[in-house]
Amino acid sequence: MLSGSLVRGTGAALAIAAGWWWTRRRRNRVRGKVVAVTGATRGLGLELVRELGARGARVVLLGRDSDRLLRASSSLAHDRVLALPCDVTRPEEIARAVAEVRNLWGPIDVLVNNAGHIEVGPMEHMTEEDFRTSMETHFWGPLHAARAVLPDMRRARRGAVVNITSIGGVVAVPHLLPYTASKHALVGLSRGMRTELARDGVVVTTVVPGLMRTGSARNAWFKGQHRREYAWFALADGSPGLSIGVRRAARRIVDGIERGESEIWLGRGTRLMAIATAVAPELTGALLTRVARWLPRAGGIGTERRLGRDSETAITRSPLLLLSRWAERTQLRRWTRSGHLRRWSFLGVRAAIDGSVRAVRGAATPMEEG
Ligand SMILES: NC(=O)c1ccc[n+]([C@@H]2O[C@H](COP(=O)([O-])OP(=O)(O)OC[C@H]3O[C@@H](n4cnc5c(N)ncnc54)[C@H](OP(=O)(O)O)[C@@H]3O)[C@@H](O)[C@H]2O)c1
Repeated sequence: MLSGSLVRGTGAALAIAAGWWWTRRRRNRVRGKVVAVTGATRGLGLELVRELGARGARVVLLGRDSDRLLRASSSLAHDRVLALPCDVTRPEEIARAVAEVRNLWGPIDVLVNNAGHIEVGPMEHMTEEDFRTSMETHFWGPLHAARAVLPDMRRARRGAVVNITSIGGVVAVPHLLPYTASKHALVGLSRGMRTELARDGVVVTTVVPGLMRTGSARNAWFKGQHRREYAWFALADGSPGLSIGVRRAARRIVDGIERGESEIWLGRGTRLMAIATAVAPELTGALLTRVARWLPRAGGIGTERRLGRDSETAITRSPLLLLSRWAERTQLRRWTRSGHLRRWSFLGVRAAIDGSVRAVRGAATPMEEG
């Protein structure tokens, strides 16, 4: 009797230990890996490289603007950082950045397609160009980037591609038509790639965030009655009831990358909205139609556009948006605290002026040696 309990107890203890070991094993996926994140100059991208770096990854920040890239990479506490200019709408810049990483650090192990562009306004004011820009940023960019890293991943028979999509990629949110159409395309691409690339040992993860407090509203573009458009968008984006904090989002995404999850849904009610859209399209369609009616009508500046930060009103300056402003300021504060890295930043700026695509920290590189 006693020996039977002993055997069962030992078995249970061994099973728990094996489970713990398995979880630990899975949770070390990013340590020492080369992880590239597009659109890493601010918001979720910057928070992701911070989290990835804290877990021991060698992070590559990709972004359009050298100054913003240097500011972002200088704000990181860890030392395995590479920052390269790369506009994801330009396939040649993607290819050049991927080749540069390979030369300096070896092949990219994990690619995170995060770069995003938002234009808000009624369909009347959306031009064909707006649709093209969104498709180039959210669909062609991730596709080109994935194609650039896949040959190395296939050869190694391992690697991961992570696509940051949006709830706008599964539910058609009004006044965001170019965004929502391109994110729908990315969701399809991402899910399809997962099934096809599994046999090559490449894991593809689709991240579906609801609203996150990244401070992105101030950097988004607004058309038509741009101040009113900005007001509704910023209020939804900054509301703690509707949106989640960017640090929490980044931690959850990196957990999912380490576990090789197929889909990561972020934010309150996000999955519920997707399920409701699938099982009751009439009902959700009617609700969204009501929302669309309530949103600002066409007019104002028409097809012209203004940034959120240039569309402020008393409402958007009010305490209602305290959390958004706090999220943005925290990132900025972390930037300005990075005085000890100025010398490195100077080298990076000089490198950018020289036409080089390289700005490296924490690795023996030609630039550092020079
Ligand atoms: N915030 C939300 O509530 C939310 C919700 C669902 C999904 N998402 C998705 O999450 C991702 C990150 O969003 P976020 O809120 O952090 O946005 P964000 O603060 O506006 O940051 C977007 C980033 O993308 C970069 N970017 C834009 N166009 C680019 C291009 N052509 N090439 C390279 N980089 C480019 C921007 O860099 P520059 O400095 O060059 O402009 C910036 O670093 C996006 O894909 C977004 O659609 C966000």
